[in-house]
Amino acid sequence: MKCLVLYHSRGGNTRTTAEAIAQAAHDQGYEATVKSIIEVQAADINTADVLFIGTWVQGFILFGVKPADAQLWVKSLPSLANKPTGIFCTYAFNPRSSLKKLANMLKEKGATIVAQQAFNRNHLTTGVDGFVQRVIDSRQRIAV
Ligand SMILES: Cc1cc2nc3c(=O)[nH]c(=O)nc-3n(C[C@H](O)[C@H](O)[C@H](O)COP(=O)(O)O)c2cc1C
Repeated sequence: MKCLVLYHSRGGNTRTTAEAIAQAAHDQGYEATVKSIIEVQAADINTADVLFIGTWVQGFILFGVKPADAQLWVKSLPSLANKPTGIFCTYAFNPRSSLKKLANMLKEKGATIVAQQAFNRNHLTTGVDGFVQRVIDSRQRIAV
């Protein structure tokens, strides 16, 4: 099974989590590649069995909190039709509804959202193993 981890990062936190996700998938015996949402090509998506897509949380702590720049980069992604997808974000205070917003945007691209997880920037890799396991398990359930 091939996993593709896509991320959007400004300061490097979300990239760190993306790399930890790929490492966890690799440790569980799967092939895993990490790409930024800018460099990903349709062929990368087509050959992946499972996707992880993450970004950072942007807003004014209580207001306007959203998945950073998603209104721009989701549009430019190739089709995600029928791809089991785990979504994630990194945040400082509270992700609020960022993951729900990201899920709705990616569903419009055809993605099937199977799991989601927010990672605090002080604990960027805490919970990565369980998150990866949930996404891969759901893929196996879909495949059966
Ligand atoms: C302009 C800006 C706005 C932010 N707004 C929020 C916010 O509203 N809520 C929150 O929990 N974190 C907020 N953060 C914190 C980032 O989401 C957090 O540091 C994240 O891990 C950054 O990821 P990156 O290093 O991949 O860019 C904000 C950061 C920046 C730079």
